[in-house]
Amino acid sequence: MPEELKNLKDKSRRSFLSKLWLLLGVALLVELIWVLVSFLRPRKPKAETDAQNTIIAGPIDRFEPGSVTAFPQGKFYLARLEGGGFLALSRVCTHLGCTVPWVPDQNRFICPCHASSFDITGNVINPPAPRALDLFQIEIENNIVKVFLDRTVKRKRYRDDQVTKPF
Ligand code: FES
Repeated sequence: MPEELKNLKDKSRRSFLSKLWLLLGVALLVELIWVLVSFLRPRKPKAETDAQNTIIAGPIDRFEPGSVTAFPQGKFYLARLEGGGFLALSRVCTHLGCTVPWVPDQNRFICPCHASSFDITGNVINPPAPRALDLFQIEIENNIVKVFLDRTVKRKRYRDDQVTKPF
């Protein structure tokens, strides 16, 4: 009798283990199919992504020459230079990445972390920042300024050809 009971327990354990292996096999197959479908599924169209990464800053007349306007949602400043041209400056310090505020009294950006400062063009006035603030690409269409957040430009220093002019 105990031998029969032992055989019955062994049989039951083997049956349980084969069901468990079958279940794990099915789970693995489902996961593989899901990975394959995810890989083959078409990505979002590029235009949609671009639209999400574009900020309509507004009409050019809204920005006085010599002004800096913060766009916190886009993490940039729109600087309008005295000559009328525009720069979209990243607010991320090029030293160690702190957020750099514009200080109107001193007419410059001053980093609160290690005191780097930058002029209205993003050029370094005071190190340790190693290079000018990054730029975002701008387009002006029908007198409306648009900033493209997915198009950043790293640069050593300011040059005139980085400015987007309205005319
Ligand atoms: S992070 Fe800005 S000066 Fe160091």
